[in-house]
Amino acid sequence: MTSLWLDRTDTFSGDDFRHGEAYDTVVVGAGLTGLVTALLLARSGQNVLVLEARSPGAVTTGNTTAKVTLLQGTVLSALRRQYPARMVDAYVAANREGQAWLLRYLESSNLPYQERDAYTYATTPQGAGTLRKELAVALAAGVEVDYLRNPGLPFPVHGAVRLRGQAQINPMDAVLALAKDVRSHGGTVVTGVRVLNVNGTAPSTVETDHGAVRANSVVVATGTPILNRGLYFAKLKPNRSYAAAMELADSTEPPDGMYLSVEHPVRSLRDYPADGRRLLLVGGNGHPVGQAGSEQAHLDELLAWAHSHFPGATVTHTWSAQDYQSTNLMPFFGKLPRGRGRIFFATGYNKWGMTNAVAASLGIAADILGGNLEWANTIHRRVTAPQGAVSAVTLNAGVAATLAKDWARAGLQKLPQEGPAPVDGTGSVALRGRRPVATSTVNGTTCSLSAVCTHLGGIVHWNDNEKSWDCPLHGSRFSSDGTLLEGPATRDLQPAAESGPKDHG
Ligand SMILES: Cc1cc2nc3c(=O)[nH]c(=O)nc-3n(C[C@H](O)[C@H](O)[C@H](O)COP(=O)(O)OP(=O)(O)OC[C@H]3O[C@@H](n4cnc5c(N)ncnc54)[C@H](O)[C@@H]3O)c2cc1C
Ligand code: FES
Repeated sequence: MTSLWLDRTDTFSGDDFRHGEAYDTVVVGAGLTGLVTALLLARSGQNVLVLEARSPGAVTTGNTTAKVTLLQGTVLSALRRQYPARMVDAYVAANREGQAWLLRYLESSNLPYQERDAYTYATTPQGAGTLRKELAVALAAGVEVDYLRNPGLPFPVHGAVRLRGQAQINPMDAVLALAKDVRSHGGTVVTGVRVLNVNGTAPSTVETDHGAVRANSVVVATGTPILNRGLYFAKLKPNRSYAAAMELADSTEPPDGMYLSVEHPVRSLRDYPADGRRLLLVGGNGHPVGQAGSEQAHLDELLAWAHSHFPGATVTHTWSAQDYQSTNLMPFFGKLPRGRGRIFFATGYNKWGMTNAVAASLGIAADILGGNLEWANTIHRRVTAPQGAVSAVTLNAGVAATLAKDWARAGLQKLPQEGPAPVDGTGSVALRGRRPVATSTVNGTTCSLSAVCTHLGGIVHWNDNEKSWDCPLHGSRFSSDGTLLEGPATRDLQPAAESGPKDHG
């Protein structure tokens, strides 16, 4: 499904990959993090190469809802429950700087954005209690929110926290401008080249599926890191959620602000002015990647909710995407452990990357260029000693070990010798001998693949909404023909015949 943002005719055509070339910095990934970092470094005179496996913005940045706000649901009170006030202050300072940089960039590039008030609203009395905590923490951190009973939604609410003067953008406007700007500052942006590994020697070697290049510094801006150093994949929860754009009936106008519910399932609302009309964007209803009974049912529920409050609306686009929540809620950015000070990374924005990605980029660029940002130093100090992460690693490793050892006992049925013709759009995992095989039929083509995720051996799950194979362990996703789409894996699913280790069960 194509998002409202990726449904556009102007695209970016990448530069040639030059095997063996040396760069000051190689940035892996052309989402918001990678492109802002690359531009900051290129502007400072560095010779920068961006390597993107797909196309700029193809993964999370081009499938976001793109609210650029310091009021982020109830993030501030959730952080305050885990950290002292100075950490919350550092988070706010980082996001404030990220927001200001992005909006300044759009203005200087003559790109539109809309100023909107941001609201976190409650539909239950308990939710209203949660709002009051957010209000108190936000005010203590210098975020000038207020509380109101009626935020102007077409359904009953128990109150809302409001932050005036925030913004919403079209993220692909930003992505395409950034990619072109990196190039105009002497950088190179290569698309369709996947990085497979990076070593931390001096200089670092960046291995790709098209050959290798060298760099003094490498920035891994791949959403979740593709390198296993530091085990960050195990300190992150991949969460997928859904979005739709709708044209409202007759003369109905979408609500004027950007809204997010306190309650679960989450409901998110914003508008988008395009071609003389104002579309309504709804979002939410998320779940951990690869762990929904039916992803399609999650989208259908969201649409049913939207139709019940905006009767007669016509859906123009639906899409879904995932982002990564760090187990202790604070984004990770900076030097990757065991990267000899040359490999940098950023992740864990918890669906608030429009500001956090830019902040992380500013932090990484400062590290590489020798700058010093107080909020980054404060956040870094917790990155080196992540308390909750230790238990997360143990937990996650336990799940992985169980799955890898117990394929035969994981409830998988034997693959039937013969059966009814498969239903188009469906997929299932079954055992062939001792090997789990993922079989799907999409548009009349049946593919049988190893069901073993190429990252660390999770068993993939059929996503009936995207028609993809999704790994419930760390969020890698593969198309129905096995092509890698996103996540920490770097290789496609193997054909069924070559699948998996032989000694399990
Ligand atoms: C449904 C949804 C709604 C959201 N709404 C908001 C919102 O309203 N406001 C907000 O602030 N945030 C929001 N977010 C979060 C925000 O969109 C993300 O945090 C942000 O876009 C992440 O940017 P990124 O550059 O880190 O990752 P990405 O955009 O995913 O970029 C990573 C890039 O790396 C590339 N890559 C991966 N592996 C390799 C490899 N091996 N070699 C080369 N390239 C590779 C990928 O192809 C991809 O292009 C939302 C997220 C979701 C999922
Ligand atoms: S994503 Fe890690 S095992 Fe699949």
